[in-house]
This record gives sequence, structure tokens and C-alpha cells, in this order.
Amino acid sequence: MKLLHRKYNTMKLENIIDTNLYPLTDQDSERYKNLLDELRLRYRTKGIVTLPNFLQPTIVESAVKDINNKLDMVFHTDGTHNVFLDNGEPVLDENHIRNRQFATKVGALPYDKMDPDGGIVNLYKSDIFREFLGKVLELDELHPLADKLGACTVNVFKKDTMHAWHFDESTHSVTIMLQKPINGGEFRHTKQIRTRGQIDEKIFNDLNNILEKDEKLGGNNDLVSTLEFEPGTLSIFSGSTCLHEVTTILGDRCREVAVLCYTTEKGRKNSPEVQKLFFGRVVD
Ligand SMILES: [Fe+2]
Repeated sequence: MKLLHRKYNTMKLENIIDTNLYPLTDQDSERYKNLLDELRLRYRTKGIVTLPNFLQPTIVESAVKDINNKLDMVFHTDGTHNVFLDNGEPVLDENHIRNRQFATKVGALPYDKMDPDGGIVNLYKSDIFREFLGKVLELDELHPLADKLGACTVNVFKKDTMHAWHFDESTHSVTIMLQKPINGGEFRHTKQIRTRGQIDEKIFNDLNNILEKDEKLGGNNDLVSTLEFEPGTLSIFSGSTCLHEVTTILGDRCREVAVLCYTTEKGRKNSPEVQKLFFGRVVD
């Protein structure tokens, strides 16, 4: 039997992102060097940079259309976690911030259900884009995640779902807003309040202060910022050092955010436990 190999269409980066605003394809230009300098400095000091209108509007539109046709393929998690996303410390009280549980409900469209010819997957695979990210993050090496389910996905938040306060396990996250909900679904974050993996009394105190103030004052407090995150905006975020949440989605339109995962270690993939948790199955 003759095997037919599917040939994927590669899109040019100029057709995916706005290279007039962000000259990634003109690496020797002064404008590109200035952009990198500015983004690097901002990322280092603030832990977050956003690039509005990064994706071409037509790419946003076709990605949203594709995702909305695949909502039945989205796997939904519904559980609780502490802010460190680990098993906590059994000697401490269950209400201690080390152990306190928060509810999260979020859906994910896995990599093997993403359109392989679409703008998001083509951007994910682009060497130029990956080199750009490496330079902003000041990393010598950056590789695509070798995970068949988790490499490049879309987080889909339906009505009444949310992602509660937490620090990410990975040092950084690269996301692109595709579709905003009618209301709610805001990305809220603190400054860089810890080093990656730091779990100590200082962090416990800081977290208690932040959460107490936030619960008392809501959106109007100086310890938490709400991100301007419009469709087409690229965000590069230090999720391991900044506490963050996505607030409850209100209304029937889903919040859809592309999540592009890269790693400094070539060949790295998620554990079977993580695959099972976020995608409901295990694929090696
Ligand atoms: Fe996160």
C-alpha cells in the first residue's frame, strides 16, 4: 500500500503577523534592534510585555472560526489547586496560603486538533518567531515543546469558568488573545513578587496581603493590574514570578487564547499526569 504523506502548507510570517509594526523579518534593521531593546528591558523589569495588533486580523478571524467549529473537541478541567499548583504542606493548616484551595475551570483544544495549516500553528513553528522570543527572554536556547497535545493549544473559557490565582510552573508563557468574552475573563496579575520556585514566609506574607487587599477592594487596588488584552495581542509573561488569575467569564461568548509553549531543553514534553489533567488522555 502506498503511504500518502500529508503536505502541510507553510505560511510566510509576513502573512501571519503585522511586520510593519513589528519588523521581525528585518533582523538587521535599526527598528528591530530598538524593538528588542525595549521589550527586553520591559520584560526584565516588569515581567510582562504585550504587543498589540501582533497578529493580522484575518488570521485572528480564521483561527476563531476554526476553534468555534471544534468546541466539542475541547477538554474541560474542573478542580481546585493552591497558588503554587502543588500538593501543599500537610503540617500547615488547610486555610494557610500554602494550602488554601482555589477553584479553576478551563478548557483546552489540544495541539493535535489545531489546524496544522492555520496561522497559529505556522507562527508556532516559525524559526524567526522563536528566535525573537529567545532574544526578548534573553535565553540562548528555545525549542518547541515536543508534546503532541500540549505544544501549541487554545485555552477555551466558557461562561462561568475561570482560572484562579496561581504561579505557573514554567518560567514564561507566550499567549495570544483571539476572542474576548462579552464580559469578565480579565487577566489580572501582580508585579514580580518572587523568584521562580520560591516558597517561604516572605511569600506567604506578601500573598496574604495581596489577596486580603484584593478581596476587600476588588479591582481598585494598587497591588494588582488588569492586562489590556485585545484580540491579536501577543503577551510574553513571567508567570512563575507574578501571581495571576483569569476572572469568571460572563456571557455566552467564549474567551479563547492561544498558548504557545517553548522550552530551553530540546525534546522536553509534559508528563503523562499533566496530559491527563489538561487534555483527558495521554499521547506519547
Ligand atoms: Fe498561568
